[in-house]
Amino acid sequence: MTHHPFIEKFRQAGQAQVFAFWEQLSAAERASLIAQAGEIDLAEVDRLFRSLVAKSAGQAGVSLEGLTPPPCERLPEHGGDAAAWAKARAAGEAALRGGHVAAFTVAGGQGTRLGYDGPKGTFAVTPVSGKSLFQVFAEKIAAAGRRYGRPLHWFIMTSHANHEQTEGFFRDHKFFGLDHARVHFFRQGRMPAVDFSGKILLEDKAAIALSPDGHGGSLRALHRSGALDLMKSEGVTTLSYFQVDNPLVRCVDPAFLGFHLLRQSEMSSKMVPKAYPEEKVGLFCQRGDALVVVEYSDMPMAMQRETNADGSLRYGAGNIAIHVLDREFARRLAAGGEGVALPFHRADKKIATIDAAGRAVRPDQPNGVKFELFVFDALPFARNPVLIETARADDFSPVKNAEGVDSPKTSREDQLRQFARWFKAAGASLPVDASGLPALALEVSPLFGYDTETFVESWRKLAPPPQPRDGLYLE
Ligand code: UTP
Repeated sequence: MTHHPFIEKFRQAGQAQVFAFWEQLSAAERASLIAQAGEIDLAEVDRLFRSLVAKSAGQAGVSLEGLTPPPCERLPEHGGDAAAWAKARAAGEAALRGGHVAAFTVAGGQGTRLGYDGPKGTFAVTPVSGKSLFQVFAEKIAAAGRRYGRPLHWFIMTSHANHEQTEGFFRDHKFFGLDHARVHFFRQGRMPAVDFSGKILLEDKAAIALSPDGHGGSLRALHRSGALDLMKSEGVTTLSYFQVDNPLVRCVDPAFLGFHLLRQSEMSSKMVPKAYPEEKVGLFCQRGDALVVVEYSDMPMAMQRETNADGSLRYGAGNIAIHVLDREFARRLAAGGEGVALPFHRADKKIATIDAAGRAVRPDQPNGVKFELFVFDALPFARNPVLIETARADDFSPVKNAEGVDSPKTSREDQLRQFARWFKAAGASLPVDASGLPALALEVSPLFGYDTETFVESWRKLAPPPQPRDGLYLE
């Protein structure tokens, strides 16, 4: 057998099967396999196997010890302090005017539930013109840059699988009018999948079964890619983090940014009140000084049903994956070290692989384990974390599934309801059903308005305002 230092290293770690087909590979395939092997931290894989797979039948889960409901800045309409919100908003606007904020989208997921062939950000989501998720965000970011007199930097985390296609999509669409020098793509890291005895799986004779290391991998990818250094040299201190699948998201929200900055928080989060006790969302909780997210599957149902005196859920602060991160906090966590590293989670999956004879295996039951990092696991490490409430209808309607809940249909309808609310706020009557859904197909470009205030401002400038009619598209 031809020798390569990696082959010996893997053999010593009990992972010789990775190179089982070496003799059959071409020079290019060998080079590719070696490059993939070079991404793997064998000691880490061994540690994860021992702690997450070998030791326990299931996931260790989060301890429920000492958990209490977290403090939260309620919306003024739910009893929050309107003056504090106004002050926060002013602080956030000042940061935007100063160019201290960048948008950050995590777009490295595999999007298996949606089953769409392509990077999820390229999926068409808007109700009339069928704009892609990326275009919606691009226009919101462009509009905010214009409003505050400072174009924003936008960081987009991709995966190995979708990086080129994502970049190509932006190039093909001329970056949707954004300055391409301010749009930055970087790949997230990958982790190998292992079988239930800890052996690294091959996807093919020359390919290791590698998959993205989770949205929590964003912190180390920001660091490794040089994004944090670029932010520093550009005077950006704060990242506005959101997921690629949520067209309603406020890409940069001045009040949220302001609360974060005024409290000198290292990481802040938005929550929405859970719609019903069984809703499958992670829950914000407090433990001592730390803000933590407990997964719904880790909290007993009886606890999830506990109520306050007013009937609201005691543990009802749902995580919608919208965060603000301090640049240096991201650097500190990326560097890791004793006690500050994000924990990996285990997910049992059906992993396409090959058998010892090199024949394809397509299991119908989980045959292995993937390891992933979650970004909300950074919260307990953050100093002065802030949690604020947001209205679901104004910030959250993700496209996760092909049909049913959180699907293109529900997201499209939530966009339509939002547009109808803006029309109403501007004094334009629009027939809607009991759920607020307008009878007309309409769409508002974020360049015209991206929240109630910006919409109403633009609307008032129209002379005379157009009559809402079928297929109305405002730009
Ligand atoms: P999801 O948890 O919805 O996962 O990601 P997913 O991979 O996109 O979809 P499914 O589960 O296969 O259907 C939430 C967000 O985190 C990003 C996704 O792109 C999405 O914006 N993400 C997820 C990453 O950037 N990297 C990852 O490794 C995982």
